[in-house]
Amino acid sequence: MKMWSGRFRQPLDPRFEEWQRSFPFDQRLLPFELAASRAHANALEHAGVLSSKELSEIVRSLGEIGRRAETEPEFLNDPEAEDVHHFVEKQLAAVVGQTGYKLHTGRSRNEQIATDLRLFVRQSIDSTQNLIADWMEAIIARADSAGSAAMPAYTHLQPAEPVLVAHWLLAYVEMFLRDASRLADCRKRANLGPLGSGAVAGATLTLDRAAMAAELGFGGPTANSIDATSDRDFAIEFVDALSLLSLHLSRWAEEMILFSTPAYGFIELPEAYSTGSSAMPQKKNPDLLELVRGKAARVMGFAVTLQTLLKGLPLAYNKDLQETQEPLFEASDTIIGMLPLVTGFMNGVEFNPAGMKQAAQSGFMNAWAAAAYLVERGVPSRLAHDAVGKAVQLATERGCDLQKLPLADLQAIHASFDAGFHSCLGLDEVLALHDVPGGTSPRHVKRALQNARERVAALRPQETLAAR
Ligand code: ARG
Repeated sequence: MKMWSGRFRQPLDPRFEEWQRSFPFDQRLLPFELAASRAHANALEHAGVLSSKELSEIVRSLGEIGRRAETEPEFLNDPEAEDVHHFVEKQLAAVVGQTGYKLHTGRSRNEQIATDLRLFVRQSIDSTQNLIADWMEAIIARADSAGSAAMPAYTHLQPAEPVLVAHWLLAYVEMFLRDASRLADCRKRANLGPLGSGAVAGATLTLDRAAMAAELGFGGPTANSIDATSDRDFAIEFVDALSLLSLHLSRWAEEMILFSTPAYGFIELPEAYSTGSSAMPQKKNPDLLELVRGKAARVMGFAVTLQTLLKGLPLAYNKDLQETQEPLFEASDTIIGMLPLVTGFMNGVEFNPAGMKQAAQSGFMNAWAAAAYLVERGVPSRLAHDAVGKAVQLATERGCDLQKLPLADLQAIHASFDAGFHSCLGLDEVLALHDVPGGTSPRHVKRALQNARERVAALRPQETLAAR
């Protein structure tokens, strides 16, 4: 039986009927729909609508529906079910007869879908947080084992200053920790229960909304029935956070691609995550990294889709909202599918510390340290900059490093150059010079590593609905 056909005299155009169904994609919400239905059934019994016998019949059947869905793939093959809500009602009626039709008393699919989607987002956030923690732990392990290895840091993609490899890796940890923090923030607002909001004006029975929310692990009930049935901010916020996460993954992927090219030679691609060319036998291509870069476009697209869907939508529920489901699911699936792969890649990638070190010692990346040396001797910064610039010019003409310039030539540029100059230009000295919190000196990077470890450990989320 349809959920709404009473007032209709004509059947639907079968093509329209098929076209407007959401069951093909919203069936994945079944576990949430069953949990929410159980909470509603308990509230109905409390309100005197269901007897305790009817309640236990309904609760038992809801459990049975969940079990069959897990064990019999055919069970979900129901071409008549309009959506997941209809499917559960049909199955319930098939098992417990007319009592099954009592479950919908005082409720609307508008509050049900809002509830199911909030539960979906909450669970996806918890899974994503766990995967981000794994990913961060892989990066931190690499940073830890990189020890005192150094590499060039670039600005404008031109060699700028040497940094510890660990410092470079920890830059990514900061990005992804921000993503985790955005997800945690989004979770707070997603974790409110719409049940009892009815179609738009509130339930037609005095249901215990706080109890229904608590049963589903929500922080509390939503405050306004009009908003609760039409709000999808939680989905937008979640996919926005994922789009930024995918953007960060694509920046990481791009650097790894660059650093794997022979021109840089800083990393060796792990074979388990690379592919060959059907034409050129020598090729090992960074396909995982390229697809990570490419998938970011999808996730960002889903974020825009969701915003566009809600833009200009009048209150309260409109069927347009059904279109929020697929972008939400696909954004979540894309990220949840990708994070374990980048983690595997990170565990398998080989660094080339010798090549990185050599690059860190060339390209005049100690020039700023050279200027700092003059500043320490009382030379105003701008003049020190100018003097070292002239020294760089001279060294370039001679095809040598700053360290190789004779003192006499340096003193001809500026009288403050003295015998201690050459010894301040070594890689270790330059690294140690950046001795501020957040800088690349070894002692501050060591502290930063410890701090990152602690923040990542704190990411592991609380139990999820599925785990309860
Ligand atoms: N499948 C619908 C959706 O995803 C469920 C809500 C239907 N509500 C309604 N009033 N037709 O939005």
